[in-house]
Amino acid sequence: MGNGLDPKALFALSYGVYIVGAPYPACDSGCNGQIANAVMQVTGEPPCLAVCLHKDNLTTECVAKSGVFSVAVLEEDVPMTFIGNFGFKCGRSLDKFEKVTFRKGLTGAPLVVDWTLAVLEAEVIQSVDVHTHTLFVGKVVGAERIKEGAPLTYANYHLIKKGKSPKTAPTFIFNEVK
Ligand SMILES: Cc1cc2nc3c(=O)[nH]c(=O)nc-3n(C[C@H](O)[C@H](O)[C@H](O)COP(=O)(O)O)c2cc1C
Repeated sequence: MGNGLDPKALFALSYGVYIVGAPYPACDSGCNGQIANAVMQVTGEPPCLAVCLHKDNLTTECVAKSGVFSVAVLEEDVPMTFIGNFGFKCGRSLDKFEKVTFRKGLTGAPLVVDWTLAVLEAEVIQSVDVHTHTLFVGKVVGAERIKEGAPLTYANYHLIKKGKSPKTAPTFIFNEVK
């Protein structure tokens, strides 16, 4: 990483693993989505979420155009193939929702049911340019618990599932730290 910054210090931060989705009228399902670990609740009253998405990603384009996004909280048992569909492929070359159980929320963003503990949807209230990424802050307008269970943490994604992070993940550097 250079500059005397120890990447292991950043690796100590904790995250979950989520699908961030948005309407995408150009494909059959009408939706696109991607895996993101850079997701967090930032206020309680009203509840707001922040998601940080790479500018090259189709999902970033979909959130910017529609002004809405959804978040699916993935469970620990989610298979790597399911993560791979959303995290290592771009919606410009396939319809990621073709074989996924989901319904559209009140914002039109996809609410994933497969391997999901809870779904949230939000309306964008602020977009911040952060070098390679856009940070979207959204006010939560829908929230639903789908089932009980343990959420997949980003640490367990690496430890248990031996997962990697693609170049577009803000935490890409972790691949080299292990
Ligand atoms: C575990 C994991 C975490 C990721 N975290 C992020 C993230 O926080 N932000 C981001 O922009 N991309 C992240 N990615 C990468 C995107 O999911 C990936 O670039 C995806 O193919 C983009 O798809 P799209 O072009 O259809 O939007 C992550 C991928 C994985 C596997």
